[in-house]
Amino acid sequence: MQKFKNKVAFITGGTSGMGFATAQKFINEGATVIITGRSQEKVDKAVNNLGANAIGFVSNAGKMSDVFELQKKIKLYTDKLDVLFVNAGYGKFAPIEAVDENHYDELFNMLVKGTFFTVQQMLPIMNEGGAIILNTSFVTGFGIENFSVYSAAKSAVQSFVKTFSSECTIRKIRVNGISPGHIKTNIFNNTGLTPDQIEGTVQSIIPTLPLKRFGEPSEIAKTVLFLASDDASYIQGVEILVDGGLSNVK
Ligand SMILES: NC(=O)c1ccc[n+]([C@@H]2O[C@H](COP(=O)([O-])OP(=O)(O)OC[C@H]3O[C@@H](n4cnc5c(N)ncnc54)[C@H](OP(=O)(O)O)[C@@H]3O)[C@@H](O)[C@H]2O)c1
Repeated sequence: MQKFKNKVAFITGGTSGMGFATAQKFINEGATVIITGRSQEKVDKAVNNLGANAIGFVSNAGKMSDVFELQKKIKLYTDKLDVLFVNAGYGKFAPIEAVDENHYDELFNMLVKGTFFTVQQMLPIMNEGGAIILNTSFVTGFGIENFSVYSAAKSAVQSFVKTFSSECTIRKIRVNGISPGHIKTNIFNNTGLTPDQIEGTVQSIIPTLPLKRFGEPSEIAKTVLFLASDDASYIQGVEILVDGGLSNVK
């Protein structure tokens, strides 16, 4: 039996990586999925690949005028949502002295302000019994050089998992976080690194990982579906690490 038949899931940043993989799995389980991305071209491509049960539109999580239009755009397709996966984002990494105001504002606008107001805007159209999942990151668990702004932004999202869940319990909406480790996605594409530099970075990270490999986007997707499903009916306000042991295994 399909677990999400007649359900609607909204995924921000669904054109690639974890968002796309999660959209695929929700559709396989019978859901209709609405995705966003920053360009029409990428949204169209993803929707074509996802098939008839996918809908998409352009919306930039770092642009508040787009975020405040989300409800209006979603209401063109559905009155209510059952699942919200706040996932859109990327990292930029630099030593403290090289971080300028643009770097800081870009990440905080997209990851912190974007997450906050996306949830605020979607709450009125979330069904009772629905689930919200926020994408945090393993980077909140310890200090990593060059990650100061990205890690602080994701730590704010981590905090939202707790505060949002405390406010949403009364509405019978569960709010949880997923904290991915190193996952094989386009995450490095927004960093300004060349493809060779990205490959070098990936190859230098792999030996440091307990499982000696990056995670697959589908491994994140499976956990998002679990958190969104009735199987997680008694899970509220937690963050699940899907990091191949990176945070806890030596
Ligand atoms: N990969 C990792 O190792 C890792 C680890 C921990 C956490 N994360 C988090 O996981 C989330 C998903 O990233 P990913 O790794 O799956 O990378 P990805 O393959 O680059 O996917 C990112 C998705 O977010 C969209 N996106 C990026 N910025 C956006 C914005 N301002 N507004 C709307 N959509 C935006 C992208 O769409 P377009 O490019 O089409 O705009 C794409 O669909 C991010 O929040 C990231 O910080 C990643």
